[in-house]
Amino acid sequence: MNPERRLIEDFIPIREISAESAREKSIRKGHISTLHLWWARRPLVAARAAVFASLVAAPETHQKRTALKQFMIDLCKWETGTPTLEKARKQILEAQKIRLNLPENTPLDEVPPPKVLDMFAGGGAIPLEALRLGCETYAVDLNPVAHIIELCTLVYPQKYGNKLADEVEKWGNWVIEKVRDEIGDLYPEIRVGEVLVPEGEQLNLFTQSQPQQCRDAPWHVSTPVAYLWTRTVKCPNPSCGATVPLVRQTWLCKKSKKYVALQVIPNYETKTVEFKVVEST
Ligand SMILES: C[S@@+](CC[C@H](N)C(=O)[O-])C[C@H]1O[C@@H](n2cnc3c(N)ncnc32)[C@H](O)[C@@H]1O
Repeated sequence: MNPERRLIEDFIPIREISAESAREKSIRKGHISTLHLWWARRPLVAARAAVFASLVAAPETHQKRTALKQFMIDLCKWETGTPTLEKARKQILEAQKIRLNLPENTPLDEVPPPKVLDMFAGGGAIPLEALRLGCETYAVDLNPVAHIIELCTLVYPQKYGNKLADEVEKWGNWVIEKVRDEIGDLYPEIRVGEVLVPEGEQLNLFTQSQPQQCRDAPWHVSTPVAYLWTRTVKCPNPSCGATVPLVRQTWLCKKSKKYVALQVIPNYETKTVEFKVVEST
């Protein structure tokens, strides 16, 4: 058997890793994707699988393959725990010891960790997982946005530790307050409910701030996070003259089991168009 042959050249449990990668897409809390949008970012569990399987040797027997398969399924889970990661690091160092022809009795903490270089690191999924697996990791990208994302994902957490989270929160809130002072009036809180915002009047904005939530109140407070805008034209028919929005499509969300759209309702009196949010499953 060729000792240089890696696990990734033999097999990896693609079906399970694909399923976990798809599940990871909907995880928001604690995921690096919430740090900054990066369109090409790969799922972390897939990156972990690729790094691990590139650094450990291909199994020599069917039994070893079965055991490695199960190990990889455990390792490539979003919620994988420290003990599993520790085992993976150990296996990587064992493989590295053999690859470097080090004496068998060399303690693992004296084995130099493998060097991993991602020359097109983008959102940093591969180097992050290489770091987690204990490798000496390098990341490069020519795009300055990717470079900053990589600094924030890979370098600063190691450099500043836990206090970085407090600093990010502190300065994040500082930015929010500054922005609120400047443009907060454009994002007034809206009280949405059966009484205050009846059907067909959902776009009535309340200019005064309201308390966040009242347990007994039939309404709740929402804060707009974005506006949809459209160009309008005046109907050329002299007897009409209505203002018509040039809306190309009215879908707000089109996912399986969640369909949300704008219903366009003409108001013949005011010769304008109103919008109502309608939902279906
Ligand atoms: C497909 S993305 C990488 C995605 C990454 N694996 C992740 O999970 O986010 C490819 C990256 O290569 C970068 N790139 C393209 N040409 C490059 C070059 N000549 N040198 C360095 N980076 C380059 C792009 O800016 C882009 O971020």
